[in-house]
Amino acid sequence: MAERKPVHITKEQLAEQRGYAAEVSAMENRPRSYHVVTYGCQMNAHDSEKLSGMLRQMGMEEAPTREDADFVIFNTCCVRDNAERRALGNVTWLKEVRKKNPNLIIAVCGCMIQQPGMAEKILKQYKFIDLAFGTSNLWRLPELLHRTLRSDRSVVVVEEEDSIAEDLPVQRLRQDAAYITIMYGCDNFCSYCIVPYVRGRERSRDPEAILREARELHASGVKEIMLLGQNVNSYGKGLECGMNFPELLRRLDEVGIPRIRFMTSHPKDLSDELIEVLGQSKHILPQFHLPVQHGNDEILRRMNRRYTREQYLDKVRKLRQAVPGIGLTTDIIVGFPGETEEQFLDTLSIVEEVGYDSAFTFIYSPRTGTVAASMEDQIPEDVATDRIKRLIAAQEAGQKKAMSRFIGSEEEVLVEGLSRRSDKAVSGHGRHGVSITFPGTESDIGQIVRVRVTEMKNNTLMGERI
Ligand code: 5AD
Ligand code: SF4
Repeated sequence: MAERKPVHITKEQLAEQRGYAAEVSAMENRPRSYHVVTYGCQMNAHDSEKLSGMLRQMGMEEAPTREDADFVIFNTCCVRDNAERRALGNVTWLKEVRKKNPNLIIAVCGCMIQQPGMAEKILKQYKFIDLAFGTSNLWRLPELLHRTLRSDRSVVVVEEEDSIAEDLPVQRLRQDAAYITIMYGCDNFCSYCIVPYVRGRERSRDPEAILREARELHASGVKEIMLLGQNVNSYGKGLECGMNFPELLRRLDEVGIPRIRFMTSHPKDLSDELIEVLGQSKHILPQFHLPVQHGNDEILRRMNRRYTREQYLDKVRKLRQAVPGIGLTTDIIVGFPGETEEQFLDTLSIVEEVGYDSAFTFIYSPRTGTVAASMEDQIPEDVATDRIKRLIAAQEAGQKKAMSRFIGSEEEVLVEGLSRRSDKAVSGHGRHGVSITFPGTESDIGQIVRVRVTEMKNNTLMGERI
């Protein structure tokens, strides 16, 4: 693969975009309200916060639903087929809404657009889409919208550029918790995964820019930050200053934000140095998302994961030794090409052996262009469905057992909202990452409250204030 260098978007380029934003906000035919629809991971959720930030800069107000908005933008995901189908279905449905609001502008961005051939497909099959752009072009939204408003044809811009844009305006979803992207892209090329093709090569943000952002968030009262990257453990690769992820965490720990989390970690890059930092830090939460993907060595090899079951379990042991009671979560795929019943049983047994607090479980979905998509022996749907059901049952049993370690213990909960079951209760996440519900009111939202866990009801931990 040809070498690709990160492209740092300059201050001048961003000033130019602000110029476009000012021009858009003065245009007669500009949309007055917007709605962002987000699919996929936290990285996309944070990208949507940036889209909102830029749209506000252009004088638009957020509309509560897509039916009320003049500008609807779909921030898409293509990691699995169902995410892609859902997005395309919803975009097409919006065509009907336009019959009622002829001024409606429909835009689509994100990973799906970055796939090979997608730009042509939109121009041919989805002509009603006014604007489409890829993940690397997000920072250019003001210019692209400016172009769309002056054109009666679709504007489609997809560049294969590994951009890093600092200081974009951000409209955060939550006031008490914030995302900070620390690195973009992925170089791992797991054989099933489309991400390296649509998010580009790994590139890390300047640590000083990250620290500045963290200090500003701390000063504005943010209580929790989530560091984002497809593979945060390889943060720093290619940076001249020599910073790595453990060192970045050490520096962030000194900022004083009460709670620091991060995701996602690749087991092969989880170093002893990082485990040591976790054990010593004050603010890094005792939780770890460590995708295992599979429990069988042969499948792990064909997935190009570059660790064995035993090596994975060894990292789990070390994490538990350094941070007793650490909350572990994972991602698992069933039905990878060629997966035999026996190999699947290895996945069931690793889930039982580790005892995860929660797991995201997926049926393998072939993605065009990836190595696994052209492997022989694709697994029939009914076999994969049966396996995921058994996996979910094993995980639920393990989860119950794992969660029971919290009963009787004290936890600090960052309250996220009223409980879904009762308006006299609130819920949020404890430091270990598990959700806890306890008596409270709206005024608790955004506060950190000390709680004693009293019982588990329908798989949810219940508590009382201390
Ligand atoms: N099919 C199913 N699951 C996938 N994931 C990534 N690619 C695929 C695919 N082709 C899962 C992995 C990853 C998570 C974000 O999505 O488990 O960790
Ligand atoms: Fe995909 Fe593997 Fe990269 Fe994760 S580490 S984004 S699964 S290629």
